[in-house]
Amino acid sequence: MKTSKTTENQQGKYFLATFGCQMNEYDSNMIGAMLENRGMAATEDAAQADVLIVNTCSIRGGAEDRAYARIAAMKYHKRQRPGVRIAVIGCMAQNHGDKIPASLEHVDYVVGPDNYKELEGLIFSEVAPSERKVWTDQNDFENYEGLMARLDGTVSSHITIMRGCNKQCAYCIVPNVRGVERSRDVESILAEVRHAVNEGIHEVCLLGQTVNSYRTDTDNFAGLIRKVNAVEGLKRVRFMSPHPRHFDPETIRAMAECGKVCNHVHLPLQSGSNAMLKKMRRQYTRERYLEIVAELRAAIPNVAITTDIITGFVGETESDFEDTLSLMNEVRFDHAFMFSYSPREGTPAFGETETLTAEEKQARLERVIEAQMKHTEERLDALLGREEELLIEERSSRDSREWMGKTRCFKKVIVPEVAGVEKGAFVRARISERRGIVLRGEVITQAVPAEK
Ligand code: 5AD
Ligand code: SF4
Repeated sequence: MKTSKTTENQQGKYFLATFGCQMNEYDSNMIGAMLENRGMAATEDAAQADVLIVNTCSIRGGAEDRAYARIAAMKYHKRQRPGVRIAVIGCMAQNHGDKIPASLEHVDYVVGPDNYKELEGLIFSEVAPSERKVWTDQNDFENYEGLMARLDGTVSSHITIMRGCNKQCAYCIVPNVRGVERSRDVESILAEVRHAVNEGIHEVCLLGQTVNSYRTDTDNFAGLIRKVNAVEGLKRVRFMSPHPRHFDPETIRAMAECGKVCNHVHLPLQSGSNAMLKKMRRQYTRERYLEIVAELRAAIPNVAITTDIITGFVGETESDFEDTLSLMNEVRFDHAFMFSYSPREGTPAFGETETLTAEEKQARLERVIEAQMKHTEERLDALLGREEELLIEERSSRDSREWMGKTRCFKKVIVPEVAGVEKGAFVRARISERRGIVLRGEVITQAVPAEK
């Protein structure tokens, strides 16, 4: 969970806690911009805030439990200062709606992802509403065009280019809570990228649930990448998360030809078993996934490939599970986010009786984690001795005299302090050592990024 950054107070303060994915981070920054445009200031101290907002996630049961615990803890602030307004927003707000204020009376507003414009009005209204507390109408067209998220002090700016999802993966709650897919207008995306660059941002990451199905009357994802790549002053372009079903040769060509597009692709796999992929309604096969990986590796030198994996989906046999392990062995992912299947009410798979116990699911999760650890280390070791471009992101969490920077292939590298090198700088570094899953290196030169 991240909390908002502090700035000077003008018209009251807001505290914003964000759970979940980068899309939620972006929405929080968009809401932050709305409030700051009206003169409010962010605070990281909930006890100082006039408005407390929790942006929630519903992707797995654990994410909801954490959000509920955070919201429950805010009762204290309401008791101390009855005038504070408390808003629960995001995917869990959409998912649970009325249930939230019914069980947590101190919550003033429950606002789903299509209703954030209402939130602004609610926060600046004279009195908190006593009647209506829940705003969860879905609006298939709400794209928040014209609004720009605040830049939150990170050197890489995430920019949502499409909202919602038209897939119906059997395990996934996202289409229920985020609605149908809608792509933002190209010009408004480019304006946001240019704004970020003018504010000193060097790297943007384009976001969408299935980011590569982006489509407007004039552009598709490949076309958008080319236009973003052409933005003057921008140095690096990333995107997250593409869906294998939409990974066409045109996109791979655009990635290979656009010098600013980084050599990293996060391509969610979920399972290596064709039977499971079908049951999950993923719309691709193991063979097609492997073909995309081969195409990416042929077109983009040293491309890093990362993924998401779910273990223990309904009906997963030992042999299905081994198919996932064997695919992992074949691809040797640079990194993976691995999850044990969490049934979500309202999803296509919800009614189905689970075939594995929690212990069995956990045991499989541990097996994929162990396999992945080997591959992660192997991929990191492949960088030892090499010279890499780093974008310096922040001080090392272990030692404030060191910096953490990221390679174009999205690997963290720790380097010692060097005169003249600051957050946001590009350097060339020699990778010298791996400690656990963190690389270390020495700065060779400060560098203007070379386009590949
Ligand atoms: N259970 C476990 N993992 C899930 N994910 C999505 N829904 C579930 C679920 N019900 C994972 C997928 C997805 C990532 C964001 O979260 O791997 O790619
Ligand atoms: Fe969920 Fe599937 Fe859409 Fe991804 S593509 S958000 S996993 S439904």
